[in-house]
Amino acid sequence: MSTALVPGSFDPPTNGHIDVIARCSAVFDRVVVAILLNSTKKPLFTDEERLAMLATSCDPMGNVELTTFEGLLVDQAASIDADVIVKGLRAISDFDYELSMAQMNRNLSGIVTMFVATKPEFGYLSSSMVKEVSRLGGSVSGLVPPHVEEALKERTGS
Ligand code: PNS
Repeated sequence: MSTALVPGSFDPPTNGHIDVIARCSAVFDRVVVAILLNSTKKPLFTDEERLAMLATSCDPMGNVELTTFEGLLVDQAASIDADVIVKGLRAISDFDYELSMAQMNRNLSGIVTMFVATKPEFGYLSSSMVKEVSRLGGSVSGLVPPHVEEALKERTGS
């Protein structure tokens, strides 16, 4: 059985994240989406809120589990018996950082990292941009799932 680990902050999950998870779900037997806790970035949504938002989008996929983690990603990978870490790549600007993280993780435990190219229409999309647009009253329709759009409106008062 193949298991992919898809880690992230997911503050909040975007349609780019959901697209990457859905494509992993079609390729791997089991997909574990792991939400980073206690990130140095102060999240807009609590751990529980991010879990719930991902659950709404991922439940229909059938083979996707959700979890949270702290500490090293490679330790999380070992604890769930992951075969690979999967990351989305939006643009060449993501590559340098993602490559060095993949190489560090390989050095730490030998785990393989695979990259999924995001859909071109989500190439510019990031959680931080979505939060800023929402906070300033702009529309994020089509960029995040509808339930996330609602949660953003509520949280940012837009
Ligand atoms: O959605 P994000 O914020 O880009 O996700 C980043 C994440 C969670 C994948 C990254 O910060 C991470 O792997 N954190 C765990 C800490 C770790 O293992 N660091 C050493 C590897 S470079």
